Amino acid sequence: MKIVVLDTYEALSLYAADIVEALVRHKPSCVLGLPTGSTPIGMYKELARRHREEGLDFSQVTTFNLDEYAGVGKDLSKPYALDQSFARFMWEEFFKHINIKEENINILNGLAKDRAKECQEYEEEIQKAGGIDLQVMGIGGDGHFAFNEPGSAFDSRTREVQLDQQTIDDNYEKFYKQARVSKEDMPHSALTMGIATVLEVRKIIQIIGGENRADIVHEAFFGPITEQIPSSILQESGDEFTLVLDKAAASRLPQAATAK
Ligand code: GLP
Repeated sequence: MKIVVLDTYEALSLYAADIVEALVRHKPSCVLGLPTGSTPIGMYKELARRHREEGLDFSQVTTFNLDEYAGVGKDLSKPYALDQSFARFMWEEFFKHINIKEENINILNGLAKDRAKECQEYEEEIQKAGGIDLQVMGIGGDGHFAFNEPGSAFDSRTREVQLDQQTIDDNYEKFYKQARVSKEDMPHSALTMGIATVLEVRKIIQIIGGENRADIVHEAFFGPITEQIPSSILQESGDEFTLVLDKAAASRLPQAATAK
């Protein structure tokens, strides 16, 4: 595990954008694993700017998103106000601003009738694409990544999960409240890539910003490795895993770990 600490959220966003850009320029037909949440928004804005102003070309790139709420999705081109699906988020925040081909975008379909089949097929699609070259992801307040909540098995694959109350509360505040969807009506379950699925990715960067993530960052990366804190398994990764923090998120870490 490599740890990078940057002064600000803006610097963290540029750092993440640099890593994505380097891969896309080096391997134009690369496979990217992408996250949702408030943290990656700065990275998406910067990548869209580089596409617009510097010709960063996504025409051969394939993407796989980490997760999607159950019961919502997936008409990328027709966003509507109350749809807080991750498909809509990705379209609004990133895809509509770049030249990716729609057929190269993969997002779990929360509207699928047979969700188990949808998850199985997603695993197959990842294999068919040759695996994921780079996964960008964040962390939940309870230590989850994607929607692998505490208690998720380290060998779990893509599947449907129940969301924790803390995740429901967090995501309600960040996304559903503004759309005037009540907490009771927002989805309480989701489809997610599994822990084992993500661990197969060739390179992972986890981007985490803000004081309110400082405690969980400390617990996940300097505490015991436990299924109760899903991100803790990443401690076992080598150089293929980079933890990218802003100063606030790194504020509880031992000094030696963050020395430049
Ligand atoms: C959701 C997503 C996670 C993401 C988390 C944190 O729960 N499923 O993949 O890491 O939000 O998001 P934020 O970046 O808003 O802290």
